[in-house]
Order: sequence, then C-alpha cells, then structure tokens
Amino acid sequence: MDFDYLEWIEFMVRWFHVIAGIAWIGSSFYFIALDLSLRKSSSLPKEAHGEAWQVHGGGFYNLVKYLVAPNHLPDHLTWFKWEAYATWITGAALFILVYYLGAELYLIDYEKIELSKTAAVLISIAGVIFGWVIYDLICRLLVGKSNLVLSIVLLIFFAFLSWASYSLLSSRGAFMQMGVTLGTIMVANVLMVIIPGQKKVVAQLIAKKTPSPKYGIRAKQRSLHNNYLTLPVIFIMIGNHYPTAYATSYSWVIIVLTIIIGGLVRHFFNERHAGNKSPYWVAIPIVILSWGSLMLSEVDEPSLDQLSPEKLSLIESSFSKEFKDNIMEVTAYKCSTCHVMEPSWEGMKKPPKGVYLSEFSHLINNYETIYKQVAASRAMPPGNITFLEDEERLLYANLFHKIEKILREEK
Ligand code: HEC
Repeated sequence: MDFDYLEWIEFMVRWFHVIAGIAWIGSSFYFIALDLSLRKSSSLPKEAHGEAWQVHGGGFYNLVKYLVAPNHLPDHLTWFKWEAYATWITGAALFILVYYLGAELYLIDYEKIELSKTAAVLISIAGVIFGWVIYDLICRLLVGKSNLVLSIVLLIFFAFLSWASYSLLSSRGAFMQMGVTLGTIMVANVLMVIIPGQKKVVAQLIAKKTPSPKYGIRAKQRSLHNNYLTLPVIFIMIGNHYPTAYATSYSWVIIVLTIIIGGLVRHFFNERHAGNKSPYWVAIPIVILSWGSLMLSEVDEPSLDQLSPEKLSLIESSFSKEFKDNIMEVTAYKCSTCHVMEPSWEGMKKPPKGVYLSEFSHLINNYETIYKQVAASRAMPPGNITFLEDEERLLYANLFHKIEKILREEK
C-alpha cells in the first residue's frame, strides 16, 4: 500500500494549528468583549478599574479588572500566552511543509523571477523578520500618539510588504507570506511586548514597588493591533484555497482592502460591546471595498502557479503520443463537464478552484493536486459522478510518478 504519510502529517499539523488558533482568537475575542463591557461600581476596591457580570454554563461570574495590578499578587494567576505560541509554532510548521518543501509549486513563479528554492525560502524568512522589525519600530516611535496616524502609517507599510511579496513570489506564495508576516507580528506582540511588560509589572509588585503604567499602555497598543488584525489574517489563511482571491495581478491590493474591511468590522463590534451606539455607517465603506475586491479579482483569469516553460516542454516531450491521447480522452470524458474554461455543469461559471484541464500541459501543471484528488484518494470526480474507472485512475498515477522522476533527475 502506498501510504501518503506526508499528506497525513500536513493534515494533522493543520488540525492542531486550527485548534490552537481557535483557542487563541477565542480568548482574544472574549477578553476584548470583557474589557469593553466593564462598568464602574461603588462597591469595588479603589484600585479596581471596573467589573463585569456574566452568566455561562449554569453559573454566574463576577470579574474585576485592575488596570495596573492589584495590591498584592494572587497565588493563582492564569497567563494567556500558550494559545498564541502554539498557533505560531504549528503555523510555521505548516508553512514550511507546504510552501518551503513545495516551493516550486507554491512559492516560486518562474514567469516573475526564476528563483532557486533556497533563494525563495530565504526571501520569505527575511520578509517576515523585516515585517516585524519595521512594524515594531513604527509602534515604538508612535506610542501614545494618535491612533489614526499610527493606523495609516501601518497600513501604508503593510501595503508595501504585500506589493513586495507579490513582486518576488508566486501569487499564492505572496498571499500566504502576508498571512504569515501578519500572524508573526501578532504573536511577537504577545511574546516580545505584552508578556515581558506584564512580567516586569509582576516583578515590581513582588519587590513592593508601584509598577509603572507605561507597560500597560504599550501592551494595550499591541493588543489593540492584534484585535484588528485577526479578521484579515483569517481571511488570508482561508483565502489561499481560493484562486479567485489570490491568483490575480491585484491580489496584493485585495489583502490591503481586507485589512481595512476587517478593521471596520472589528470597530463595529468593539463599539457595540462597549455599549455605545452601533456604528452602522461602517456598512457603507465595507460594501464599497468588498465590491472593489470582487472587481479586482475579476481583472484577469485565475492562473495557477506554473512550472517553467523549459521544464514543461521537457516533461511534455517525455510522454508518448499514445499516453497523451489516452489520458486526454479520459480527461475530456470524465473531467471536462467541470474543468474547462466554460463548464457545462449547471450553475458552474468557472472551472472549480481555477483548475482547467483542456490540454496536456494543464495536466502537467496540476499533476500533484490531480494525483491527490484522483489517484491517492477518490475525491475527484465528486461522488465519482462521471464513473472514473480504476484503470483510468492509474493513468493519472503514472503521470504523477513519471513527472516526479523527471523532476528528481533534473536536480
Ligand atoms: C461534476 C464536476 C466535476 C468533475 C466531473 C470533476 N471535478 Fe474536479 N473539482 C470539482 C469541484 C467542485 C472542485 C472543488 C472542490 C473543493 O472545493 O474542494 C474540484 C477540484 C478539483 C481539483 C483541485 C483540488 C484542490 O483542492 O486544489 C483537481 C485537481 C480536480 N478537481 C481534478 C479533477 C479531475 C482530474 C477530474 C476528472 C478525472 C475531475 N476533477 C472531475 C468538480 C468536478
């Protein structure tokens, strides 16, 4: 039995990543909502900032917030940090598994720049580090200044990063690169700013000193950014499965628009949780910007990241005419209801996932996903609706193994 262990490892890491992400984002949403729902009360100790009452799972909770710290440190203090770290660790592992190990398919676009695998990976790592260092610098320079100015400066910087990634890497790689950079910024905010600040406060408390409020101010700034970045980052993480979003010349602009849209959505909920009047006006810019993203995604047809033209013709010439005719005939009968530029399948306007298979070169460009869908599993055709036979599946398996062999020998 041919066991696809790498696929299973990837799947399990992805599972863990999503679970960790839910725990992190869940607790982050919870604390933001809690923070905004705090109310003053005369019965609270004078160091307390406010309290909230909540009911959940059959019990009532009374939470009190101390802005700097309570008079003395409680014995049992729960820290919230491992959710964030676990999300980053599993996310980095997943990024390496899919985008670094599979750099030729996912990270490099030979039509843009002919990067070697190593060069592409180094560019990606350098980009993430650069993103954090400059972001951190901007935040330090503008701490305590107007939030609006800071947001605009950061947005311009993120737009630059997005454009630079798009210019150097494949469109899908660039999309993910931005997701990883923003996600890393969020985790680094926890690891390098929020938690160390909180530790200093605790240390000063233990030394019976009055902790400085500057740590609180800094942590608040970063935690606000994390709050606003959450939705765009999730958009990117899911969006890399949708060529309509990532595989156009303007996908880097779509990311920028999504950062603004995500921010507006958060703003709506933040105001609501704070008990203020709901800012329904945000719907107007959200609709306009979403419409803009849709238009941009239509500007050019999705194209999957491709092998270099030389490699393509090398591979193409190593298959016999008989094999090509054979597999193209099967493809025409069993896949082309859906996987052509204008599918005849009812209600389908475009080839699903941007995968169109009308020529042999298209099969080569998609050989790996086809193998996963058709030979290593029976995901395609959906419900085997076109009755693909086992011998026919074998054709796609042979295609895969032969291309793998050619690419290996090339190295
Ligand atoms: C009835 C329509 C239909 C037929 C026939 C069909 N597919 Fe698909 N295909 C789909 C849909 C829908 C998706 C998107 C599935 C999803 O959203 O995960 C898809 C996705 C794919 C993908 C991309 C998977 C990914 O996640 O990137 C590949 C590759 C693929 N199909 C290959 C084939 C091959 C090869 C055949 C013929 C042997 C075939 N399909 C037949 C509808 C079809």
